[in-house]
Amino acid sequence: MADKKVTRRDFVENTTKAALAAAFVAPKFPSIVPRHVLGGPGFQAPSDTLNFAVVGFGGMGSGNANVLAQVENMVAVCDVDLAFADSNVASKEKNRDGSPNAPGVKLREQFNKAKKYTDFREMLDKSKDIDAVIIATADHNHAVIAKAAMQAGKHVYVQKPLTYSVHEARVLGKLAKDNPKLATQMGNQGHSRDGTRSIVEWVQAGVLGDVKEVHVWTNRPVGYWPQAVSRPRQPNANVPAGFGKNFSQGAINNVTAYQLATAQYSMPDGLRWDLYLGGVPEDVPYHPIYHPFNWRGWTDFGVGALGDMGAHLIDQPYWALGLTQPTAIEASASPWGTEPIVPRPTSGPTTKPCTYPMATTVTYDFPARGNKPAVRMYWYDGGILPPRPAMLPDNVQMNPDGGVLFVGTKGVLMHETYGDNPKIYPESAAQAATKVAKSIVRIDTSHEVNWANAAKGKGTTSSPFEYAANLTETMCLGIVALKTGVGRKLVYDAASMTVTNIPEANQYLTRNYRKGWEV
Ligand SMILES: NC(=O)c1ccc[n+]([C@@H]2O[C@H](COP(=O)([O-])OP(=O)(O)OC[C@H]3O[C@@H](n4cnc5c(N)ncnc54)[C@H](O)[C@@H]3O)[C@@H](O)[C@H]2O)c1
Repeated sequence: MADKKVTRRDFVENTTKAALAAAFVAPKFPSIVPRHVLGGPGFQAPSDTLNFAVVGFGGMGSGNANVLAQVENMVAVCDVDLAFADSNVASKEKNRDGSPNAPGVKLREQFNKAKKYTDFREMLDKSKDIDAVIIATADHNHAVIAKAAMQAGKHVYVQKPLTYSVHEARVLGKLAKDNPKLATQMGNQGHSRDGTRSIVEWVQAGVLGDVKEVHVWTNRPVGYWPQAVSRPRQPNANVPAGFGKNFSQGAINNVTAYQLATAQYSMPDGLRWDLYLGGVPEDVPYHPIYHPFNWRGWTDFGVGALGDMGAHLIDQPYWALGLTQPTAIEASASPWGTEPIVPRPTSGPTTKPCTYPMATTVTYDFPARGNKPAVRMYWYDGGILPPRPAMLPDNVQMNPDGGVLFVGTKGVLMHETYGDNPKIYPESAAQAATKVAKSIVRIDTSHEVNWANAAKGKGTTSSPFEYAANLTETMCLGIVALKTGVGRKLVYDAASMTVTNIPEANQYLTRNYRKGWEV
């Protein structure tokens, strides 16, 4: 059971009546006077305002903060690279024509007044006014930070993928279950969109008939971030730095790795690389190829294209078909990016993976659920598209950026990333969809505000950990199959969280942690 401390909000909820009286006698707690006492319509009294913190104020964390800072109170910002955090505020302050951008200006005000930290542990220790925390670091530190925040009684919004591993997804899922008062949300914003909700209604109403096959694809990482590259390293006596006459793929990879290491990159001022590494057990030296953004492709920090886009694409079939965990998983892929094992072993492999392959496919087998048949789901990344199902008209293009195809007995449904632009074929099935009632509530705010409202006791979150942890576990299981090796099929027992047929695969359900950063 988590060590749940009393938050400011708990305090407010539990003491409303007493505090209301006390506010007039001893004005020590002005923030707890309800809005209807103080202000007119539209006035947001401090007691209705969420005090939130952001850990990881990079591209996405600053984006999430920008949405929430317009309506709530940002009291703390924690980033191991506060100069980068500041630059992300600066990039939002002006429009392209140089005129002030109102939301960005407000974000700047909030950013400047917020307490600044580089270590989330210090932030949780010192800033006792925090009600809720947005976590948008690189994926490998999501779980350790979210766990600490939840154990300190904070509501949490954790970017997708919720966690780096199956084990971590289980830990956060359990913490959420044990602390039902905490509002939890994964940052898969497509879950809050109308398209996703319509897809779920149509599929569950039976418009497609029985769905036994789903195809999910994305063009990531191609053109977005590097994968299948080796780690920057100095040339050594065994292998020359230049091409010479060797233009094999291996020689080209080596030269790329050497070239990456030849420039001298100094650490940006103020960057706490030790805290960036966090739970990574190895002392990976700083290099700008990791931070910001490109950490995604590196096995130390990210979960590849599947981790990056799965939560925006597997989400819709997962919800619509009521899936939980697969019983079998197999992966196929182009080559990994590798680095030499040091010291060089005298037998066995001499290299180990360091970046994910450029293209991967994963096949998941989900069992029957009640009267719904078993489902086979195919994942494709790196730009590979699925074969066209017979019911998809020849003149309809699959969006190469990413999408999903549900293949049913009466029709197919195709949609884009985030559940956008859903289309049903043939016309008879599309017509049937128009008659399906809107049974799922629509979210009329942003995904971030939906979470903030839930934290304030108004409604529930769209993508709580109860759901998100399962979805993340499935995504991570694809990586387990990939790491176990191509040409193998994993049999998975979700009840015991065990790969039952290949014992060595179980090591990939979790990772080794640096001491003090265990999840
Ligand atoms: N929902 C979406 O559409 C969406 C889009 C982009 C990114 N994301 C997710 O958001 C997260 C961040 O991605 P990004 O693109 O913003 O990456 P980024 O590299 O731009 O930002 C990460 C930030 O975290 C900081 N950081 C790293 N370790 C830290 C630590 N231990 N403590 C405090 N700060 C730390 C870095 O300095 C950086 O500012 C990822 O999980 C990513 O998958 C979601």
